[in-house]
Amino acid sequence: MKKRFTVNFFKFRRHLIIAAGKFGVLKGDGKRMHFDYKKDAPIEQVNADFLTKEELVRHRDIYMGEQAAALSVFTDGKDKCDAQVLCRLPPSAFPRYMRNMLDSIREDAGGYVCHRAFFASIGSGGAVPAEARKLIKSSFGSLEGLRFAFTDAAKKYREQGYLWIAEENLRRHRALKLVFTKGNSLLPPHMHGILCLDMWEHSYSGRYGCDRGAYAAAFLACARWEKLVLVR
Ligand SMILES: [Fe+2]
Repeated sequence: MKKRFTVNFFKFRRHLIIAAGKFGVLKGDGKRMHFDYKKDAPIEQVNADFLTKEELVRHRDIYMGEQAAALSVFTDGKDKCDAQVLCRLPPSAFPRYMRNMLDSIREDAGGYVCHRAFFASIGSGGAVPAEARKLIKSSFGSLEGLRFAFTDAAKKYREQGYLWIAEENLRRHRALKLVFTKGNSLLPPHMHGILCLDMWEHSYSGRYGCDRGAYAAAFLACARWEKLVLVR
């Protein structure tokens, strides 16, 4: 029988308070959370060379250091609660004194979720597996069609956010879509993100300037295509 996923809000609240202490929000003024990043934290999951070293370091400092450690509070134990869940919790799940900080909490947790997806999307590129090709063909006509649509979308959306190759939750039928999410907001719940490209300026400006199309094309050249064939 399939195990049901539940969140015990009382236990979660305790975790939230511990994490809030780690984040520093309890000491803060309710505006932006403050993080102390470890400058020597290892760069995880990144093996592509399409970003400059400075950009990788900046990403590491912001999203793979202390923030990851703080958010790990939500991911262990049987009351599993990850940053994605955190972003979608209703205000009533938070202690009253934290509610004026919800936007900040969601913003940072959202950034964590999106960056994890981004780093996990970077691989060595190479040949696209046959099964993934089939899926791409049914959704975009061809791999070239996907490349064109993806780079076109990267040029079209001028805001800060993330460009996703996402799958719609349809029964019996897998369909890929390109979705742009603004800021650090998450994909809508009925969509599952497969490949994610960080479209915040800090990711590409050093190497590509304003050429978001070239940046998107470089990403596709080293995308972890095998993610498309993984069964969820
Ligand atoms: Fe980023």
